[in-house]
Amino acid sequence: SEDLWSLPAPVDAERDAPRVVAGSVTLIVPTFNEAGNIVELLRRLGRALPGDLPCAVLFVDDSTDDTPAVIEKAAADHAFPVSVLHREAPEGGLGGAVVAGIARADTDWIVVMDADLQHPPHLVPELVGEGERTGADLVVASRYTSGGSRAGLAGSYRVAVSRGATWLTKGLFPRALRGISDPMSGFFAMRRSAVTAQALQPLGYKILLELAVRCRPAAVAEVPFVFQERFAGESKSTAREGMRFLAHLASLRSAAPVARMIGFGLIGLTGFVPNLAALWLLTGAGMHYLPAEIVANQAGVLWNFVLIEVLLFRERRRHRHWADRVGRFALLANADLLLRIPLIAVFVGRLGLGVLPATALALVTTFVLRFAATEALVYLP
Ligand code: GDD
Ligand code: MN
Repeated sequence: SEDLWSLPAPVDAERDAPRVVAGSVTLIVPTFNEAGNIVELLRRLGRALPGDLPCAVLFVDDSTDDTPAVIEKAAADHAFPVSVLHREAPEGGLGGAVVAGIARADTDWIVVMDADLQHPPHLVPELVGEGERTGADLVVASRYTSGGSRAGLAGSYRVAVSRGATWLTKGLFPRALRGISDPMSGFFAMRRSAVTAQALQPLGYKILLELAVRCRPAAVAEVPFVFQERFAGESKSTAREGMRFLAHLASLRSAAPVARMIGFGLIGLTGFVPNLAALWLLTGAGMHYLPAEIVANQAGVLWNFVLIEVLLFRERRRHRHWADRVGRFALLANADLLLRIPLIAVFVGRLGLGVLPATALALVTTFVLRFAATEALVYLP
């Protein structure tokens, strides 16, 4: 399938996108096998969009079914332009699809909504109108503000998960999410010019969170909405999506160097568990404790490596082959141990420190060195 709507497309999601019509809207709808929802969605949009709101609908599609063909067929029946960008090699899941859509949008506003009619189409003009009225850069359709609800969220398990995830996220990003009661919402309007991040790195479902944290829109408004039941088909969210969400949180939270160093330290602390477990197993099996210490240390190193890869340096893994990374990481971790002993000797002998403060100082010094070296030598090109 091909792109039906060919406006000159900026290649990157950056500031100063060309503006077409003031107040004009690109409605970005990510789709993954939503054939049964397209006709009804466009029909309701047709009723919802007022004549004076120039709005083009852009489906960003990663489907394996006939959704793109259904869209192209239905497109002709409408007064507003409808196009589909089908991605042959989908990256970043739902969030990646939305960012691909943003890169194509050169309207004043982008609105993001799901295809399954859980997001009421009649709110599209209201979201943009609220932004124009208040001057906000971002207008979130919220289930958690008065007048909103999550009626369509099936089952108390999903409600609890959604609540917990919202609290956790608000706790992790209190400043970036001030004024946003529903950072998990997938329904929002944003000024195209407020999408300032050069490097959006969406990971799965939470694209609003990505935009709010990385672009820091200056002013935010909310419109309540009632989360509806799905019209056709079923949710594409899986347990794997939950894991991706946690990795996304870690990646957003560790964008600042200090936060990254704290994460590095916390992960390092958890490494004591596999280290001690291995030591217990090996000495239990009769190994002398000194070689056992060395081997057991590698269990901790490996554990730390895996967590650091997944949680801290996910986006930087491509710079080197994984075997190269594991080798360098292990080398640094063991060098850290070797360096500590002479350092303690210097602190005691030359600076006259007691053994305990000298050890503490050596631990901190080698930790900071190891963090800096890991960044520079393992995760930079
Ligand atoms: N292009 C693309 N690629 N679209 C996708 C992908 C993907 O990998 N995965 C899902 N989508 C599309 C679906 O086709 C649908 O239009 C929309 O994204 C939402 O997917 P659902 O599977 O219906 O998500 P949900 O209902 O479980 O979750 C929604 O509500 C949550 C709040 O409870 C989403 O809006 C979430 O972002 C939101 O947090
Ligand atoms: Mn849905």
